[in-house]
This record gives sequence, C-alpha cells and structure tokens, in this order.
Amino acid sequence: MTATPLLDLHDLHVSVRHRGTRRTLVRDVSLSVDAAESIGVVGESGSGKSMTIKAAMRLLPPGATAEGHVRFEGLDVLKLDRRELARYRSRDVALIHQDPRAHINPTRTIAQFVTEGVVHTGQMTRDEAIERACDLMADIGIPDARRRMGQFPHQLSGGLLQRVMIVAALLPSPRLVFADEPTTALDVTVQSDVMAILLEQIRDRRVSMLFVTHDLDLAAAVTDRLAVMYAGTIVESGTSTEIYQRPLHPYTAGLLQSRPSTAKVRRPTAIPGRPVAAYEVDQGCSFAPRCPFATDRCRAERPDRRLVEDRSVACHRVEEIADLLKERAT
Ligand SMILES: Nc1ncnc2c1ncn2[C@@H]1O[C@H](COP(=O)(O)OP(=O)(O)OP(=O)(O)O)[C@@H](O)[C@H]1O
Ligand SMILES: [Mg+2]
Repeated sequence: MTATPLLDLHDLHVSVRHRGTRRTLVRDVSLSVDAAESIGVVGESGSGKSMTIKAAMRLLPPGATAEGHVRFEGLDVLKLDRRELARYRSRDVALIHQDPRAHINPTRTIAQFVTEGVVHTGQMTRDEAIERACDLMADIGIPDARRRMGQFPHQLSGGLLQRVMIVAALLPSPRLVFADEPTTALDVTVQSDVMAILLEQIRDRRVSMLFVTHDLDLAAAVTDRLAVMYAGTIVESGTSTEIYQRPLHPYTAGLLQSRPSTAKVRRPTAIPGRPVAAYEVDQGCSFAPRCPFATDRCRAERPDRRLVEDRSVACHRVEEIADLLKERAT
C-alpha cells in the first residue's frame, strides 16, 4: 500500500433537495483506492453506489450536493475550479457507464466520440488520437477498427459499443477507472468477454478501478478489496477474499446467501423485506428491519463502523453473531 491513496473519500455525504428539505442519499462514506488497486462497491439497487461515483467525479445531478472530502492524489476534488475539474475528469479519471447507448450521442461517429476528450484537452491531435484508438481497438479484439471508426453507435452491437466505451475511457491513460455496472446491460453471452477485456486492460496498464456492481460473486473475484453498501452507507469493508469467505455483517451474509450458487446445491434465500434509501432511516441501524439478529439496541442506536479482525464493520453485534453467520453459510 502507498502512503497516500490515489483516491480518498472521507466522510462523504450526498444529499438532494426535496420539497424544501434535504434528503440524504449517501452517508459517511469513507473509502480509498491505491495505485493499481481494484476496489469493489457492492449493494442492492438504490444503496448509493452510483451517487458515490458521481460525487467522486463531481457529476452529481442538479440539486444534489456533496460534503466531506474527495481527494485524488492529494487534490481536493470538491474544491477544483472549472479548468482543474475538466482536467481531472478527462485525464486523471474515467467513467464506464452501465448502459453505453444512454451515454453516447447517436448522431456522431465512433471516431468523434472516442477522440473528442483527448483532442479537446490538447492531449493528442485528432490524427494521433485516431491512430491510438485504432491500436487500442485491435488490442481488445475489435476487428476492422478503421471501418468501425466511421460508423454510428446504432451500427454496433451492445457488446461492441461497450468495448468502444472502454477504448474511450483508456485513451487518455487515466490513473483510475470508475466502472459502474459495466456489463449489466449486455447480453449474458457477452458479459464475461467484456469484463475480461476490461480487467486485462486495467491490469496491464496498472490502472486503478472502482468497480460498482450488485454482484458480490463477481466483485469478490475481480477486486482486491470490497465495500458493501446498504442504505447509502458502507456496512462492511475489507479484503475481497476475507469478506467472501467469512462475511461479518448480516447484510453481507444475506447477499451471499441470496444468490444462486453453482458450487453448492442449495436454494438461495432472499433477504426478507426491501432495501431502503438513506433518507428513510431515521434512527438505529439501517439494516435492522431486515436483520434476523436485530435487537432493541439495533433499532434505537446507529452503529458506527469499527475495526474487527482487519475489517471495518458497522454492526453492534459482530462478535456475538460471527459464529452464527458462519454456521448459516455452510
Ligand atoms: N437525481 C436524483 N435525485 C434524487 N434522488 C436520486 C437521484 N438519483 C438517484 N436518487 C436516489 O438516490 C439513492 C441512491 O441512488 P443510486 O443511483 O446511487 O443507487 P445505486 O446503488 O447506484 O442503485 P442501482 O444498483 O439501481 O444503480 C436512491 O434512493 C435513488 O432513488
Ligand atoms: Mg447505480
């Protein structure tokens, strides 16, 4: 680990205006990503994963504000001026979205889309950018790169378009890639191909990645460390292997039990109840209403994150229930 992380989120809080009040969407999120490290952020829909990425890139929707610290190599991202921010977004970090079609202008060619960022910032001339993009396309197995450059998004399949997104993200040689459910919108048959390509590129270039997904199995397999989010906050974080092998938070354990397993023949058990948003939690542990281990204290008092066995866990009862969780998992 390096002394200063590449990206450091500290007590990040995101809220949005709603009928004259403010609604909390992300609460007290602290998370760091080191150079060449991959971090997974996992949680159910609405847990605040995308909002966390948006805050880290300062791409929050209108009316939403971020408080706390977002530091990139010591740079105070929440305080950057327009010019510094443009540079940060176009050269230091890159974003790969869930649904490529929703984020690409259908009237512009692939070449225009892929090269506009690096040409705009003066990092490359247009010719250089096209040359480098074609090389990158060849590297990631897009045949006939020159012809693809002249095509429009609708002429490409979803899987191919997501590969183009990967090319656009990597072309400026960013230090960190935010990958927000990069394969969820794709056909199952191409999901693993696109994921493999992304991982290979990330590793070869020693680029860091913050990988957002609801798929704990996938995240554990491809990242070094994991942060599990529930109701806008991180409930457990630690190394991916340890969390996967022995979850300490009941929510993480629930996520692991609720997915179909190919390794063991057993019926997946869904976590009862529905996920809540951060603003729906008034007091107590946000997971208490769905937690089989919740007590009166859990319902009354919000647990802080604390260190347990090299893990950071927000649960009052970690020590008491550790063995019970283990029994349930086997
Ligand atoms: N533009 C917005 N204005 C107000 N609230 C929003 C906005 N976008 C998202 N939210 C709310 O913020 C919370 C967190 O949303 P976010 O998109 O970060 O979830 P997520 O974890 O990425 O979920 P998913 O897995 O579905 O992508 C949710 O309760 C959502 O309804
Ligand atoms: Mg999302």
